[in-house]
Amino acid sequence: MLFKRTLKWYKLFDSEMAVNAYVELGRVNSITCGRKKICIARTSKGLFAVNDKCPHNGASLSNGYCTELGTVVCPMHRYHFDLETGRAKSGIGDYVETYPIEIRDDGVYIGFEETVWNLF
Ligand code: FES
Repeated sequence: MLFKRTLKWYKLFDSEMAVNAYVELGRVNSITCGRKKICIARTSKGLFAVNDKCPHNGASLSNGYCTELGTVVCPMHRYHFDLETGRAKSGIGDYVETYPIEIRDDGVYIGFEETVWNLF
């Protein structure tokens, strides 16, 4: 195969304590990483990251809220998106892009899929 998909990790916060102060339990907040605006949500299930742009009509998901069911709710038309899969709960075929989060000893990282050459 000429190309392959890999995950590239970017540091968002220096510690778990820093991200917990930035995103309280049951809340969402936005953060920019490179040119991507990310919506970060913290629920009792953990920390989640999705693209901030709602796939329905482009509203900022970080202006919405998250639920105990593990969804982020868009502030514009109140569509719910699953924080783990990105799938809209309302039956429409929309998906919001999700990103993995890793909490490591030296900080909190987000992973973006990238396509790279696979020559050898
Ligand atoms: S813009 Fe988000 S649900 Fe319509």
